[in-house]
Amino acid sequence: MILNGEGEKMAIIQNGNQFHLQTKNTSYILGIYQDKYPVHFYWGERLEPDISLEYQAESVSVDRASCFARQLVEGKWVFEPDLKKEFSAVGKGDYRIPTVHARYADGSTVSDLSYEGFRITEGKKELEGLPSLYVFEGDRAQTLELFLKDPDTGLKAALSYTVLEDYDVITRSIRYVNDGPSDPQSASMSGEGGSDIHLLSAMSMTVDLPAAPMQYIQFPGDWARERSVECCDVKHGIASVSSSRGYSSHCNNPFLILKEPSTTEKQGQAYGLALVYSGNFAIQIEKAPVGTIRVAAGLDSFDLDWTLKPGESFQTPETVLAYSAQGMNRLSQIYHRVYRDRLMDQRYLHASRPIVINKYEGTGSDFTEQQLIDIIRVGGEVGAEMFVLDSGWYGRYGNGNSCGDWYVNEEKLPHGLKYLAEEAKACGMQMGLWFEPEMMTVKSDLYREHPDWCLHVKGRESAPIYGRVVLDLSRPEVCEYIIGSVGRQIEEVGLTYIKWDCNRYFTETADQMQAHKYMLGFYHVLKTLTTKYPGVLFEGCSGGGGRFDAGMLRYMPQTWTSDMTKPEERLCIQHGTSYGYPVVSMASHIGQIEVGKNARNPYLEFSALVAMGGNFGLEMDLSLLSETEKAQVKGYVETYKRLRHIICQGDFYRLESPFDGPYTTWEYVSRDRSEAVLL
Ligand code: GLA
Repeated sequence: MILNGEGEKMAIIQNGNQFHLQTKNTSYILGIYQDKYPVHFYWGERLEPDISLEYQAESVSVDRASCFARQLVEGKWVFEPDLKKEFSAVGKGDYRIPTVHARYADGSTVSDLSYEGFRITEGKKELEGLPSLYVFEGDRAQTLELFLKDPDTGLKAALSYTVLEDYDVITRSIRYVNDGPSDPQSASMSGEGGSDIHLLSAMSMTVDLPAAPMQYIQFPGDWARERSVECCDVKHGIASVSSSRGYSSHCNNPFLILKEPSTTEKQGQAYGLALVYSGNFAIQIEKAPVGTIRVAAGLDSFDLDWTLKPGESFQTPETVLAYSAQGMNRLSQIYHRVYRDRLMDQRYLHASRPIVINKYEGTGSDFTEQQLIDIIRVGGEVGAEMFVLDSGWYGRYGNGNSCGDWYVNEEKLPHGLKYLAEEAKACGMQMGLWFEPEMMTVKSDLYREHPDWCLHVKGRESAPIYGRVVLDLSRPEVCEYIIGSVGRQIEEVGLTYIKWDCNRYFTETADQMQAHKYMLGFYHVLKTLTTKYPGVLFEGCSGGGGRFDAGMLRYMPQTWTSDMTKPEERLCIQHGTSYGYPVVSMASHIGQIEVGKNARNPYLEFSALVAMGGNFGLEMDLSLLSETEKAQVKGYVETYKRLRHIICQGDFYRLESPFDGPYTTWEYVSRDRSEAVLL
């Protein structure tokens, strides 16, 4: 065992030019090749701490032609295109997906960053401006930083690896710096650096895996059909899972599993890569001619051109890496645990999430005050804990046409929101409210006052979708407006829950930089609100589950999983979501299914069982229930209250999949293994 000076076991073991990153069950080993390039040796089951793998550095990893092109000068290889690299740039013969692609003042895009040194520190720093996993003092966590520089251009990269030993995960991210002199005079005198560097692609990580047949599992979807499970063979060329819609999106998810073809839920090797980011992303897989596999994850680089002035830096989002030698279910459990304990806010670690009654599927935006009072009263009778008023309470029109105008519509709600909150309190419930804060409709007062506050390109009209344009959160005054309008309602009404919706993708962004700057503004808004109002539970939503990712979970520990509440379809959506995200993060309600005056849910029991498989609630006009149905719903609520500590806090097992056959079986086992629930 390798110990530090105080006799404690270390998560990062440095041995000459080799760094061995060890979690409880895994090892990730890299080295510095010929004092110049960080190279990858191994990622898999835990190995002996003092093992040396440096001999692996020179194995052929790309193609034979590149291998023959190597040149040995005075005992050193000077042309090294085919190493298994931890970091790769453009223009030196590595033709695979680069970690960084930069353009310099002379128009050239050749970079050659070489190793300058390393640092190992205890713990982990949170990323500046971006969500990330956190650790506490006393956690067994260490961070390795590798410092690289291209002496010809001044581009620097600090590669950061944090080992969260007990959670079996390693996080990776990169900080790029333009290290050219900022003073133009000294730049011209010295003849070096001093100019802008344009990042055309700046990934959070790349890793090269050995040649072996592999598959990847992605989670493609659509509105009301989020996160299905698709298994694909890794083939020669590049496969890409990405979003350029402004959000992580319904269509692709920033989480991916790589596995051996024989790996199942219960056995075999599986690797996970998850981005803690909610905007445009890309996870790419490239199989080289000799069969080695490079995986890259980070910001989507389509149209990216981020200017780094001398002295400026650029922080990439974080990637969470995990490995399981016991199949995919174990891999999911690793993510579930670390997200619950070290991503979501600590306030929600052990607290029961409230059982919500949201009337949206029952009434849409069309309701009267009396209808809400009726729903609140029945909500109290059946044991719900949080009344949530969805869309339709705000602005001049009292419906989706008023997005942006976050004041109560007094025609619809003459006694105001506080009156509803008091009624809910009298019935044993707290009150929550729906917002769509990132949007404004073109009919809103806000649009009349600030038409330029939306994402737009000068001289070109911004196309409204559902009557909405997207507010430009890269502008500080827009962020302040959102913080103010949501905060005001929280304070005035005494809200303890916000459903934060977002119903359309970006269209007219000036460029990719604006899309990322939007995300930085967005995270600033979320951080400010969640810090200022610690008693409020935020639930994410985006036309259902269009922004279900680890970045959101940092601030909003649950997400409305999908607008689809038909139980047989919900099974697939929740099953697919569980690969990357914990059960407690999946808001899952018994829906009303039918719409209209005598609407019914014809599959009440089936809906209840599926909803109980996640973070349970009710999504209906309760006042339409018959006495028998009311008693049934009350029974489901009581059952869930008895079981939720196991379902939400326990380990989750996917025993049978709705994608494979007619049965779905889910099991939840308490962390101390003393209780279990089988659905
Ligand atoms: C989205 C959400 C729904 C509901 C509506 C309101 O579609 O997913 O749950 O809040 O918006 O317009």
